[in-house]
Amino acid sequence: MTTVPIAMIAGIGAAVPAGVLTNADLERTLDTSDEWIIERTGIRERHIAGPSETLNSFTLVAAQRAMARAGVTASDLDGIIFATVTPDHRLPSAACELQAMLGAERAWAFDVVAACPGWLFGLSIADGLMRASLGDTILVVGAEKLSSITDYEDRSTAVLFGDGAGAAVVKRATGDGRGLLATYMGSDGNLAPLLHIPGGGSAEPLTASLLSEKKHFVKMAGREVFKAAVLAMSRSTDAAIGRAGLTPDAIDLLIPHQANLRIIEATAKHAGISMDKVMVNLERYGNTSSASIPLALQQAEEEGRLKSGMVAMLVSFGAGFTWASVVVRW
Ligand code: COA
Repeated sequence: MTTVPIAMIAGIGAAVPAGVLTNADLERTLDTSDEWIIERTGIRERHIAGPSETLNSFTLVAAQRAMARAGVTASDLDGIIFATVTPDHRLPSAACELQAMLGAERAWAFDVVAACPGWLFGLSIADGLMRASLGDTILVVGAEKLSSITDYEDRSTAVLFGDGAGAAVVKRATGDGRGLLATYMGSDGNLAPLLHIPGGGSAEPLTASLLSEKKHFVKMAGREVFKAAVLAMSRSTDAAIGRAGLTPDAIDLLIPHQANLRIIEATAKHAGISMDKVMVNLERYGNTSSASIPLALQQAEEEGRLKSGMVAMLVSFGAGFTWASVVVRW
């Protein structure tokens, strides 16, 4: 990949459901403690959708905020790429449903299933489609309603996940140096059993017994995932920095997947980036999978930590296993 950007993020938006589930709330229903959750993960609370809130109800708000920020309307969109593992329906895609809600009639639309790095996969795909002249204005969404696949009786996963949505309008770079400097994607399906939903797919469709065995909920081998995550995040960081032709000291802000503070600290240490240059907001949102990086990116911009011309390193890992990284000049 050249370091002359073809695509840039012209506007970023985020939204979360209003409902908040705190560690104190979880203490009341699970054998866990606020102290354990903070010490082992860094998470204090997460946003959880209410019974009448669909994934696309809060994703629409994130998309509209991104479009307003970029100064584009629905009719400007050439395409919608929607990264999610929790679409409102198995069919059609969340992207097509969002296209209808936005009234983006010219836009093609499809979903990407790449778990937590899904939004970074989406950015890479948008960049590639722009290089192939298949779009000039593409909405890239990362949004999850993880509460719909979380077993709130399983303390090893219930404390980790939250709901949220992020979106970016990706446009053709303007030639002033701002835009995506490098992208990188990787996968290892051999690690699938470490983090998966065993039932409810076509191999084992939903039945009453499957539901009673809770096979429709996410299962995770936390300790093994932790080790694989540190390795994947570290390798991804090295790869994207190398592809961008940069050294770690050129990174103004590291925006890692918000899964666990200890994974974030290990990734920053490996990359040689000090923690004052790392965006962390998992204490408020928990792990929101594909929404995690756009939520953090939007907050970094809003707080003035990411200003025009600065270089950000985005890196994520997740179920699959999948991992990805993007270096962007803001
Ligand atoms: N509250 C209290 N105790 C808990 C607990 C909870 N919510 N969850 C697990 N424990 C217990 C375990 O049962 C275990 O008890 P034992 O020693 O009696 O067997 C003990 O805490 C240690 O468990 P372990 O799994 O080794 O803890 P950990 O330090 O690895 O932390 C995670 C657990 C899940 C926080 C950590 O492994 C992690 O973050 N893994 C990566 C997860 C991730 O990022 N997933 C998403 C990928 S996108």
